[in-house]
Amino acid sequence: MLPRSVKLVEVGPRDGLQNEPRAVPTAVKVDLIERLATAGLAVIEAGSFVSPKWVPQMADTADVLAAITRRPGVSYPVLVPNAKGLDAALAVTGVEEIAVFGAASEAFSHRNTNCSIAEGLERFAGVIAAARDRGLRVRGYVSCVLGCPYEGAVNPAIVARVAGDLFDMGCYEISLGDTIGAGTPLAAQRMVDAVAKRVPRDRLAAHFHDTYGQALANLLAVMERGVSVIDSSVSGLGGCPYAQGASGNVATEDVLYMLNGMGIETGVDMDALLRAGAMIGAALGRPPASRVGRALARRDQADPGAA
Ligand code: HMG
Ligand code: MG
Repeated sequence: MLPRSVKLVEVGPRDGLQNEPRAVPTAVKVDLIERLATAGLAVIEAGSFVSPKWVPQMADTADVLAAITRRPGVSYPVLVPNAKGLDAALAVTGVEEIAVFGAASEAFSHRNTNCSIAEGLERFAGVIAAARDRGLRVRGYVSCVLGCPYEGAVNPAIVARVAGDLFDMGCYEISLGDTIGAGTPLAAQRMVDAVAKRVPRDRLAAHFHDTYGQALANLLAVMERGVSVIDSSVSGLGGCPYAQGASGNVATEDVLYMLNGMGIETGVDMDALLRAGAMIGAALGRPPASRVGRALARRDQADPGAA
């Protein structure tokens, strides 16, 4: 059975912009986040407190957080890899939620965070406990749930173990990352069924990159298995700097169009979302990767009254 409503988690300002070859001005990031909130997105990942040597594009996260106008009912989580990142997040007024990120592949864990899966989990146990002590909510990511750029196939039992450990440590939600977008629908269902042995289905989120064009099909497949939280990126921005060739997250516009068509509530307004996508596309100097964004832009050019 499909969910009646879906929570969309907008990751464009973090997952999208972390991968841009050129620095994006802080003011553009702030404008994007404001527009996404105007569109009705209630969770907007705003940046990350990682090493600026590893991901220079996120080095201005504190400035971004200081400049946005926080709206009631909107959460602005930030990625945190270690105690230093948590301290940086806590130094900013208003941070209420962080996300930690582990992986189901040893090679990816080393490339992304310079440690093994087990070392990462040990580090996160301390970060999660300290964050919760300070009243923060913590989300947990697992990368490479449907394949790894270095190791190939990934065993769903390992995904379940990492997801279960993060959940047991106190993450309120576990986001399952198909980092390289290699998954297909039945594999995605098998993976969710395996994880559901450790984490309740209503605490799972799907975080699918769209490299192979499978993301919407995979989302429909996992919604049929009880997932009702979807991560997506306006205009299909992004990729992971430590997963060469991986393209952006599934586009928020494409997900919204599919959910609207199926009568599934999200609280997000398509026209306002398209305006956010057009703004960031113009700032980056390229058309949206979203198929729906492009189709609706053509429709609106042909018939300006249609918007
Ligand atoms: P390391 O080099 O092992 O760390 O990196 P270290 O503790 O040895 O520190 C090295 C230097 O970094 C030191 O500076 C630290 O102070 C500094 P130096 O003394 O050389 O001047 N440092 C920091 N600076 C600022 N903030 C910090 C921080 N920590 C250390 N938090 C580390 C280990 C985890 C730090 C590094 O590997 C890292 O930052 N990795 C993050 C990589 C990343 O952001 N990847 C993208 C996000 S994950 C993703 O996209 C996947 C996801 O979307 C889901 C999916 O799609 O699958 C979530
Ligand atoms: Mg990602």
